[in-house]
Amino acid sequence: MEKTLVIIKPDAVERGLAGEIISRLTNKGLKIVACELRLIDKDLARRHYKEHEGKTFYDELVDFITRSPSFVMVLEGPGETWKIVRNMMGATDPAEAAPGTIRGDLALEVTENLIHGSDSQDAAQAEIELFFPQFTKPAS
Ligand code: RTP
Ligand code: MG
Repeated sequence: MEKTLVIIKPDAVERGLAGEIISRLTNKGLKIVACELRLIDKDLARRHYKEHEGKTFYDELVDFITRSPSFVMVLEGPGETWKIVRNMMGATDPAEAAPGTIRGDLALEVTENLIHGSDSQDAAQAEIELFFPQFTKPAS
């Protein structure tokens, strides 16, 4: 079984779309193995989006992801779970995302694009450790 990290972003929670998005993912057959409604703080946001530090949209991205609670989840499936989730999310820019995808069906703008999913198995492992350290590190 492989796990991946999903963040249902503040815009989705604010719009009441968390249930719709969770349903799509669990109807596919993926299993929720951890979840938390959580206000992501600036420090965690900056670490999570470190690869984008210095880019024009970085500050806007950090402000957006910290503005209200997100629904953070670990999903599990029989293999390549991160890829299944990425395909269901659709392209980063909702204007480019195919109909039938979460962003293609439910979003309009690149910042307010509803959902984050890890983009590789290594990223999934690192992001699960970042958001749910209690499940990945032995108790001390
Ligand atoms: P995410 O990390 O949130 O799952 O999104 P992603 O992989 O599809 O896209 P990524 O390239 O990692 O970008 C992270 C988030 O930054 C915002 N963004 N804005 N204005 C822009 O050109 C731009 N490009 C990216 C998006 O909100 C994207 O989800
Ligand atoms: Mg990304």
